[in-house]
Amino acid sequence: MNWSEQEKKNSALEAVKQIKDHQIIGLGTGSTAFYAIQAVGELVKSGMSLQAVATSVHTENMAAELGIKLLKPEEVKEIDLTIDGADEFDSALNLIKGGGGALFREKIVASLSKKEIIIADSSKMVERLGKFKIPVEVVPFGLSYVTQQLKKAGAICYLRERNDKVFLTDNQNYIIDADFGLLDDPAALAEKLNQIEGVVAHGLFIHLATQVIMGKGDHVVIYDG
Ligand code: A5P
Repeated sequence: MNWSEQEKKNSALEAVKQIKDHQIIGLGTGSTAFYAIQAVGELVKSGMSLQAVATSVHTENMAAELGIKLLKPEEVKEIDLTIDGADEFDSALNLIKGGGGALFREKIVASLSKKEIIIADSSKMVERLGKFKIPVEVVPFGLSYVTQQLKKAGAICYLRERNDKVFLTDNQNYIIDADFGLLDDPAALAEKLNQIEGVVAHGLFIHLATQVIMGKGDHVVIYDG
């Protein structure tokens, strides 16, 4: 396993230590969350009684295979603890997420969570957010309008594709990867994006993470919000 995979795994295993019996757990999406989901599966196998809410169809399938009992987000009033990855985080624990396209469900799950733990390898920590383009999920009908509004706000826009086809989210929407350059004020930009009609969700997660657990070499560093 290379160093970045080891850091991802170490951060995931550290986060999973916080899970207690009978809790409802939010399961993230991506290559770092993968290790956490596996470890939650182990906890269930060892007899812990846990229920989970998945942030994507991919995670849902993985959890089901591991025998983790799944709840629908619409059935859940509160999630005790969510463990998810991020594409970037800063010292204020603001995040860019959505590299895997699951940002809308991830944001809903994060918003329902008492505790949102972000797990990451050390490449994800940045001084200023924005090198990673901000994913913006958009209803197909609104693509032209939203693209124009993002451009007006200063972004260079790229419609996300996969295998030469327009990428579709689990909600059958498109993603525009919006390059705003390095951000001076992520919270202000998040507010601006919230105002655009047709935007389902964007990848700026402001004040949603309560803790980041970052793998660094063979140990972990914990940042509390
Ligand atoms: C999924 O849409 C994302 O928000 C992921 O959580 C994020 O892209 C981090 O993924 P990795 O853990 O694979 O880097």
